[in-house]
Amino acid sequence: MPAIPICQDIYWIGVNDRTTDLFEGMWPITEQGVSYNSYLILDEKKALIDLTKSTKEEALVSQLSGLVNCSELDYIVINHMEPDHTGAVRILRQLAPQAVFLCSAKAQAMLDNYYGITEGVRVVADGEKLSLGKKELTFYSIPFVHWPETMATYESSEKILFPCDAFGGYGALRGAIFDDETADLPLYLKEALRYYVNIVARFSQPTLNAIKKLSPLTIDVVAPSHGLVWRRNPQQIIELYQKWARLASEPAEPGVTLIYGSMYGNTEAMMNAVAEGISRCGVPLEIFDAARTHASYILPSVWTKSGVMIGAPTYEVSLFPPVAEQLEALVEKRIMKRKAAYFGSYGWSGGALKRAQEIVEPLQWEWLDTLAFQGGPKLEDFKRGEEFGCKFAEALKASQ
Ligand code: FEO
Repeated sequence: MPAIPICQDIYWIGVNDRTTDLFEGMWPITEQGVSYNSYLILDEKKALIDLTKSTKEEALVSQLSGLVNCSELDYIVINHMEPDHTGAVRILRQLAPQAVFLCSAKAQAMLDNYYGITEGVRVVADGEKLSLGKKELTFYSIPFVHWPETMATYESSEKILFPCDAFGGYGALRGAIFDDETADLPLYLKEALRYYVNIVARFSQPTLNAIKKLSPLTIDVVAPSHGLVWRRNPQQIIELYQKWARLASEPAEPGVTLIYGSMYGNTEAMMNAVAEGISRCGVPLEIFDAARTHASYILPSVWTKSGVMIGAPTYEVSLFPPVAEQLEALVEKRIMKRKAAYFGSYGWSGGALKRAQEIVEPLQWEWLDTLAFQGGPKLEDFKRGEEFGCKFAEALKASQ
């Protein structure tokens, strides 16, 4: 995609990535891709804000060269050191040896650690201002959104916030970069939630701290380093991030994430009865086959819903391993204080529920109910399953 003006003399010069299958080496993005958004300010002083992954450095240089000779760059702002935004620093160092890298003190050490760059680096303080001529940048430390060194940059004449990872989302850009131009806003919102829960959720309190810190600013445009640029309604993505971050410590909305696994179809058959009961009670429900779904897609559902229904057979006197793996991912993301229930088949001894409870013990979940059955479910078991699902859904509604 060619460079796109955001306003006079400020350009989006981002790069789409549709060839990386796993973001951070683990989160699937094969289908939707991701963008690494960089921005260029052409004033008396010329500043580049955020870079790209090393595999896309040629594309970034091409974008840049269409607007300015790299040897004319004065500043390169490094808001965040994760290599999806800094993989191109070495080539920029070569092409723009006169440019000064602007970053936080912690990022200065990381520039050396990751890339061996020690020269031409200037540390900017929290709240420090830098005039580019007509435009002026202010740097705000927003630690742990996403790494400890992270900062956001604010351009005050156009009221544009460049917050790097904050307010970002998965999804390569499809020609339109602005929230008011895309016809696919629901997709980007869904991918922003998946990105938030996969990447940022562990840092929800720092996210709330950052939103509070930046709240005195008048923001006309939110220009993050992944996904859409928000100019029609910049508060929309800020408020969504705030809502998602609060879910780390506040109750989620009534709803059920049903995570199940099945070896020979018995637990799956019961799953359909349980799902029928939940749906009959009018509670939103998402169903995931643990063995066939990456945790990336299950995490957002659990993050935003109050109930977790686990369906799994006993396997070697323990929990069916694909379900165990998913529960471990929930522990990694610290999805606390959900209401839970368990159902599943066993052959000659149980063990699945005990292991499930052991895995999620750090999350302080409240276990409301259990429905274990031996072998294959009978007609009367399906009836019990429906009632079990409905009872769980009613308990979620009653607890709000
Ligand atoms: Fe988009 Fe934390 O890097």
